[in-house]
Amino acid sequence: MKIACAKKVSGEIGLPGDKSISHRAAIIGSIADGVTRISDFSEGADCASTLACLSALGIGIEREGQTVRVFGRGKHGLSAPSEALDCGNSGTTARLLAGVLAGQPFRSTLSGDSSLRSRPMNRVIEPLLKMGAAVESSAGTLPLTVEGKHPLDPIAYQLPVASAQVKSCVLLAGLFADGITSVTEPKSGSPGPVSRDHTELMLLYFGAEIEEIDFPVEREFEHSVKIDGASRLEGRHVSVPGDISSAAFLIAAAAGLEGSSIKLRNVGLNPTRLGVIEALRRTGASIEIEQTAAEGGEPSGTIAVRGGLDSPKNALVFGGRSIANLIDELPVLAVLGTRLEGGIEVRDAVELRKKESDRISAVVTNLRKMGAEVEEFDDGFRVGRSELKGALLDSFGDHRIAMAFAVAGLFAEGDSRIEGAECVDVSFPGFFGVLGSIVS
Ligand code: S3P
Repeated sequence: MKIACAKKVSGEIGLPGDKSISHRAAIIGSIADGVTRISDFSEGADCASTLACLSALGIGIEREGQTVRVFGRGKHGLSAPSEALDCGNSGTTARLLAGVLAGQPFRSTLSGDSSLRSRPMNRVIEPLLKMGAAVESSAGTLPLTVEGKHPLDPIAYQLPVASAQVKSCVLLAGLFADGITSVTEPKSGSPGPVSRDHTELMLLYFGAEIEEIDFPVEREFEHSVKIDGASRLEGRHVSVPGDISSAAFLIAAAAGLEGSSIKLRNVGLNPTRLGVIEALRRTGASIEIEQTAAEGGEPSGTIAVRGGLDSPKNALVFGGRSIANLIDELPVLAVLGTRLEGGIEVRDAVELRKKESDRISAVVTNLRKMGAEVEEFDDGFRVGRSELKGALLDSFGDHRIAMAFAVAGLFAEGDSRIEGAECVDVSFPGFFGVLGSIVS
């Protein structure tokens, strides 16, 4: 894909449905009683993988464009799949389904593409073993074979990493446990969930007995979620807001190009996903947010961005608790870092190495190809202010790297080419068309 230097971006845009919320609506809908209708379901390949897995588990799915109907069969209605469940490129599909499968009275195997087969699964294997499921994997990676048990043993689980996927896996398994299961996130400086809380909100919306508690520990807080295995779920209508992680690429493009003005309609504004907005505001970007709805506990609204940055002389540093709330947006923030007076530094983000690609290495490699001044750390990077030059870039088969470097291409002098750019279909099919329609 060829990307030319741009002067500005302008226009009003609707975004694909949020990927995290779409996965959860389909999975939770499948174990609820009755039909769940999902509107604005993500059109990305990842969420299609979730639907295909659910259908292989005997769930009726009807799809017309962005409207999906999931014919839920209740908590005990899934049936054994005839072959391995293919999660494609989607870590959320694999880790959330592992939790559901742990409570089923059958054996099933989760697999995926080569990127997903290299990502860590011990983080879900460990709690599921504690709950009594038999989970086998030769190297702590997919393929993963789950021999379910019913009921599972309830556990009180302390998450070793701030991961919404692991938290969700344990909560979903907790629906099949004999009693109350709790998950506690790593300590943080303020109350509330550390990682995105879409699973908690959706389980509550579907009628589960779920409770959240914050308790002070020394000068910090611990946030726990408790779920009762006796919970029953009722099919609902879910209206999925636009994906703020997809919006982030367009917001960063607008912020980085003086004279830009874009408006994004119906974007998800869940506070656990707004780290990117706080981060961009620290770059001096002009971003206005207006909340217009809050269905199923998920706020949504309009985001308006005006081009231009006004950043401090010293590097903007991101680390600690803030990282979990902007983990998926760090690649595009790194790109924007080249436009900031003092550049940007990201630490405590070793999780970036375990995403669809090693995103620390991918960001550093591509930025260096564009002539940027970059330093790589084990847990992050420092990017100095740099005039980018067009270059031949690699997507590393990772949708967010492809989109982040499309934005970098807009900022660069001369043309850039991104190899393997079609991987944007994982979360944002049509991304390049949207970008092309707003650049000038
Ligand atoms: C996701 C959680 C995050 C995020 C991923 C989607 C989710 O991963 O990076 O893109 O939908 O729960 P972790 O929970 O592993 O950090």
